[in-house]
Amino acid sequence: MKNIVIFASGAGSNAQKIIDHFRGSDIARVALIVCNKPGAGVLEIAAREGIPTLLIEREAFLHSDVYVQQLKAIPAHLIVLAGFLWKIPANLVQAFPNRIINIHPALLPKFGGKGMYGHFVHEAVISAGEKESGITIHFVNEKYDDGETILQERCTITPEDTPESVARKVQLLEHQWFPVIVERLLKSL
Ligand code: GRF
Repeated sequence: MKNIVIFASGAGSNAQKIIDHFRGSDIARVALIVCNKPGAGVLEIAAREGIPTLLIEREAFLHSDVYVQQLKAIPAHLIVLAGFLWKIPANLVQAFPNRIINIHPALLPKFGGKGMYGHFVHEAVISAGEKESGITIHFVNEKYDDGETILQERCTITPEDTPESVARKVQLLEHQWFPVIVERLLKSL
């Protein structure tokens, strides 16, 4: 049985999809949800699902090994960032080579980097007059939204689309593909 650790600090809809996908699985389970935001929706999901949570503190995350040691002790086989906005420090990247993945709600390398999250992404996509958007699932390195791409899936953008409607199309792709890719990676470990 492999251990998935989800890092999330938002509503947690992707975390929920991953939890649902692996419910009753003999391949893997969500062993821990790591969060940096007290009150985040994902913490309610974890409580309802009976999944342990770890509320992390910025200084220790950036400048110590305490969380790396905790993740190794589980042990975490795959770390899945699902709406986690802090940059992952080098010591964590190096402790889990090719074992940390992120989902980005656009087609990287466009519309990525610091500050490009949530509605900012979809607003930028619409302002740029893009004809398509989508999702990028990628390995995490020490830069924002920069690691090797694992999967991209696309949706079309019509002149009637708004940032909100693009967000809905992109979220459908996220929910459809993220659990599948997590399972595919776990099977290849
Ligand atoms: C998703 O759009 C994901 O692409 C981004 O953060 C959002 C998280 O949404 N990285 P949720 O908390 O899973 O609903």
